[in-house]
Amino acid sequence: MSNHIFINQKIKNFRRKIKVSSDKSISIRSVLLASQAVGISKISNLLESEDVLNALKTIKKLGINYYKKKNIYFIEGFGLNGFKIKKKTTINAGNSGTLARLILGLLVKSKNKVKLIGDKSLSKRDFSRVIKPLKHFGVNIKSNRNSLPIEITGSDFLRPITYDEKIGSAQVKSCIILTALNTPGTTIINSKFSRDHTELMLKFLKYPIRVKKKKLDIIFIKGLSQFRAFEYNVPGDISSAAFFIVLTLLSNKSEIIIENVNINKSRIGIIKILNKMGAGIKLKRKKIYNGEEIADIYVKSKTKLKSINCPSKLNSSAIDEFLIIFLVAAKAKGISKFEKLSEMNKKESKRLDLGIKFLRLIGIKVKRFKNDINIHGNPSLNLTKNYEIKNFLKDHRIFFLSCIAALTLGGNWKINDKKSANTSFPKFLKILKTIGAKIN
Ligand code: S3P
Repeated sequence: MSNHIFINQKIKNFRRKIKVSSDKSISIRSVLLASQAVGISKISNLLESEDVLNALKTIKKLGINYYKKKNIYFIEGFGLNGFKIKKKTTINAGNSGTLARLILGLLVKSKNKVKLIGDKSLSKRDFSRVIKPLKHFGVNIKSNRNSLPIEITGSDFLRPITYDEKIGSAQVKSCIILTALNTPGTTIINSKFSRDHTELMLKFLKYPIRVKKKKLDIIFIKGLSQFRAFEYNVPGDISSAAFFIVLTLLSNKSEIIIENVNINKSRIGIIKILNKMGAGIKLKRKKIYNGEEIADIYVKSKTKLKSINCPSKLNSSAIDEFLIIFLVAAKAKGISKFEKLSEMNKKESKRLDLGIKFLRLIGIKVKRFKNDINIHGNPSLNLTKNYEIKNFLKDHRIFFLSCIAALTLGGNWKINDKKSANTSFPKFLKILKTIGAKIN
């Protein structure tokens, strides 16, 4: 099967109600926490993407059995530190930074050495951000100059730490929280705001974790408490919904309702940013489910969007969505300003560099000042040329961005690395086709 697609026409107007794939961050956390619970957990609507399948393969390799019946995954945990780890175990996190960083926190007591590897993209990413706190706990960890492969051997002498998490990284924070589960005493994290799914899931499991909301989040985790197996239903992923939100906004006379999407405050930066640009997106039928807030997202096409001076305090809650937000800025009237985007270059690919390259490819003027950018919008942007997107680290979000640009701006596109969609959103192209996109 070929690994590229062609798009040669804009999408025609549509009015649809859709569901997007389940949330990737929550899916991975539910698998990892179920592997540490006492008994058989039942997880429905688990995202079946490569990152999550790698999480399932990983717990299996560490001695945790699971099976699927109908729409439910059953995961058989033996409690905290209940892995059965064989000698010379290697686990492969594939493309997933979340899996790689979080699993380290659950290996901190392993009697046998475990080697952690990943794909080409993950092997280029920085792990010093987790290695540093793990060493404070007293974990034995060796790496290839702070990147993969990493070897970790557990210790029986872990000590609780107080850690200032200054990056605003949920992966770092969650790695520390999971390490704290296996550590006696109370670990404290002074954490810059970032997505809080791990904290919410542990609270939902009645684990002794407490969060004081001040300028920073101060998180207290008491170690060595067991928690029971649980039932969990994973909601839709706003990071996947983002592409359909922008597709609708930038199309003609179209409307979409995206049902049952997670609207955790730490994730809805895109809604806040686009609404400041005049998008008029509405969240309806809000409810709390399994400790997370869920809603239906209503979007209509908008011909007049205005530029934004984006407050950097929204960066962490929109960190995975900036690529597609840039596309809206390209069509908005005026100059949009975004700042302090260095974290974008630490993702599956250097997304800040690539986002700028992409905008220039479609004829948009972009000025860059280190990690700040100005995008000169062009509301009458309409493409007619040929474009080819080669996505050398196979970043799923670059693939999705390219498809949405092609379907809303016109031009003849060849977009490579179709398979990258499997990382987070395997049904992406199928859903696009059901709402009328012509994709070959
Ligand atoms: C994630 C956290 C974010 C995000 C990533 C998923 C998570 O990364 O970009 O896609 O599930 O914890 P950082 O923690 O590096 O900011």
